[in-house]
Amino acid sequence: MHSFLSRLNTLFAFTISVLAALTLGVFISTYFEQYHGTVSISANKPIVKHMTDFSANRKKNDLGVLQLDMDMNLNPLFDWNVKQLFLYLTAEYVTPSNSLNQVVLWDKIIQRGENAQLNMRDVATKYYFWDDGDHLRSNNVTLTLAWNIISNAGRLLHVRADGSSSFIFPDEYVTSRGKNSGRE
Ligand SMILES: *[C@@H]1O[C@H](CO)[C@@H](O)[C@H](O)[C@H]1NC(C)=O
Repeated sequence: MHSFLSRLNTLFAFTISVLAALTLGVFISTYFEQYHGTVSISANKPIVKHMTDFSANRKKNDLGVLQLDMDMNLNPLFDWNVKQLFLYLTAEYVTPSNSLNQVVLWDKIIQRGENAQLNMRDVATKYYFWDDGDHLRSNNVTLTLAWNIISNAGRLLHVRADGSSSFIFPDEYVTSRGKNSGRE
């Protein structure tokens, strides 16, 4: 009995060491991988409305509306240490009161085993593009995709994709009485 337990103990310790070594191996073998990728992004039919921001201060603010085209093949990012990708698209622009505004417009989780080649056309933004004032008209907005790499072992990586794109909002508001929506 005594020797059985001590053998079990030895086996257990050995198993833990092997698992730790394997995990370290996975981590080291992917440590220098940069997980870069290129995307093509474009914004279609950007318009600006001026309407009540129900989620915030109930003041009237600028709301940007646009459709997205995005093409990317992120399948090569899935090496043996990558469990999932978290993609998110950020709009960045400058206003008189802020040197940098960042608004997340869209995101997506891609699990290992899912197809990571995306070809999207005229997709609505997932989140509202509110300015905290009235500075979207005629403004130059840069769209950038980034991803977090959630790995099996090791760091959480943050990577900005190559291939951002810019567009300029029109210089006039669209009123909600038109064909666009009746939310005002
Ligand atoms: C918009 O901003 C981007 C990034 O700063 C710049 O490369 C681009 O030339 C600008 N476009 C216009 C029309 O000013």
